[in-house]
Amino acid sequence: MDVLEAIRKRRSIRKYLDVGLEWEKMVQILEAGQYAPSAGNLQDWKFIVVTDKDVRKKVAEACLNQVWMETAPIHIVICSNPEKTVQYYGDRGETYAIENCACVAMCMMLEATEQGLDTCWVGAFDEDMMRIALSMPDRGKPMMVLTVGYADETVPMPPRVVLESLIFFQRYSNRVKNINLVMNDWSLMMEDYAKKGKEALSKRLDRLKQEAMKPKSEESKDEYEQLRKEAVGEQKKGLKKHIETFRRKLKEKAEEKKRKRELKLLKEYE
Ligand SMILES: Cc1cc2nc3c(=O)[nH]c(=O)nc-3n(C[C@H](O)[C@H](O)[C@H](O)COP(=O)(O)O)c2cc1C
Repeated sequence: MDVLEAIRKRRSIRKYLDVGLEWEKMVQILEAGQYAPSAGNLQDWKFIVVTDKDVRKKVAEACLNQVWMETAPIHIVICSNPEKTVQYYGDRGETYAIENCACVAMCMMLEATEQGLDTCWVGAFDEDMMRIALSMPDRGKPMMVLTVGYADETVPMPPRVVLESLIFFQRYSNRVKNINLVMNDWSLMMEDYAKKGKEALSKRLDRLKQEAMKPKSEESKDEYEQLRKEAVGEQKKGLKKHIETFRRKLKEKAEEKKRKRELKLLKEYE
């Protein structure tokens, strides 16, 4: 399964089959969390794997009595250590502690999907109750619970906001990718094309230089020369095309202006 497929396939499941999980699959899920990114690579997290029925009941109660959670054979409570992140990053560390654990949760959920398992992220809980349920010391902070198991329900994908409305370019609220194109500003477009052309040419020349560094048999010299000519030729062709378009546009505009001037003169004469 590729990553995007797993992302699309994952659903929040709130009803699980009454069957246990293969421990190897659980290990893979926990490993996915272990490899999550974290600010400064602090890895300020702990994963509490809850398999015990009574403890799962207490966790579900702490989660504002979300009784459905008890149907999941495993709960993973992801905990952070904000003291550690704050020690390194000051106030910003509080946010990093949350972000780090969110990365863990997402990695775990995707690995569970890959393993044919289902999950649900549970964020609504009473922190004190959770601490008591898990005998958690002050330095640990419960961040989220993941229920894991085999789904006993099929859930359609909840609607998603269309991609177009989520994306801005360059700055907030700007939905126009290339303003010059919209404004028909050909000179700026040409400048941009020329710049890109130059960059592409210098990249190619770099590659050619690298080629030239290789052992210089007669054969490879010829090959180098041919590659160089090809690169320059292609580049010229590309630039020529853009310049021709530019000239044509300019000519058209000049002709239009001329026509307008002649019309004006004609009117004045009449
Ligand atoms: C931060 C966070 C907190 C959540 N808390 C809960 C929760 O307490 N209980 C619950 O049933 N689902 C919870 N969810 C799951 C969302 O309701 C769910 O992801 C959302 O409805 C989209 O559905 P999907 O996950 O199937 O795409 C939470 C999800 C996130 C990211």
